[in-house]
Amino acid sequence: MIQLDNFDLWWRVQGNTVEEPNVRRGGTSGVQSLELPPGSQRMLYIKRQTGHIYRTLRYPLGRPTIQREIQAYREYRRLGICVPKLVYGGVGNSHGQWRGLLVTEGLEGFVSLEDWYRIEAQNYWGEEIHQQMLYQLAKTLSCLHASRWQHGCLYPKHIFVRVNQKPKGGVDIALLDLEKSRRRWRTSWASAEDMEQFRRHRGGMLDQDWALLQRQYKHSLALRSAI
Ligand SMILES: Nc1ncnc2c1ncn2[C@@H]1O[C@H](COP(=O)(O)OP(=O)(O)O)[C@@H](O)[C@H]1O
Ligand SMILES: [Mg+2]
Repeated sequence: MIQLDNFDLWWRVQGNTVEEPNVRRGGTSGVQSLELPPGSQRMLYIKRQTGHIYRTLRYPLGRPTIQREIQAYREYRRLGICVPKLVYGGVGNSHGQWRGLLVTEGLEGFVSLEDWYRIEAQNYWGEEIHQQMLYQLAKTLSCLHASRWQHGCLYPKHIFVRVNQKPKGGVDIALLDLEKSRRRWRTSWASAEDMEQFRRHRGGMLDQDWALLQRQYKHSLALRSAI
């Protein structure tokens, strides 16, 4: 993997637009992807933000949102939740405006949950793998919430699924876009808000899948809380 630890170099690197810079939180945020080194089929994702801050009681004057996301990346990893590998993360200041950068390795072999339903992956992989996917997703979310972490933007486009070839086998779940992730005082707050958000935005997910996911999630969360 290419090693650059210079903010300005990463800021200037140009790739293909994944998300046009859009105005939010009083600043702009955009994402590009880039094959690096060229021809390697290894993708990098570069999130660039300008003047993009969040405020909390702890940071009443505002703090670059990228800093919250970098911190969340570390915490999720510590919890054993799969997230993209962080290549570079940093903040800078230009003409009195915050700039934030987050460079991650592309999740290899994964598809988003949104695409999983769009391409009808269930028909391709079969019922057993599909059930495993729901089970692993329930486990991942219960792990997150039992630690009082709330994702804050739990949409199918931010949940990624990989079916492993044998001999490893099984299904992996990864989460991304952690810029709204934060620790809550109670598991029940993190759980209720994330799951309600997921319910509303679950899109192509079938009702029976949603019901099964919820059952497994509640069971898994109860087991973790009992420990
Ligand atoms: N490391 C990654 N691997 C695979 N896809 C990624 C990665 N990082 C970003 N993406 C893709 O780019 C999209 C935008 O990134 P995201 O972090 O959600 O930015 P934003 O905060 O602008 O929504 C994601 O929904 C996902 O499709
Ligand atoms: Mg996003």
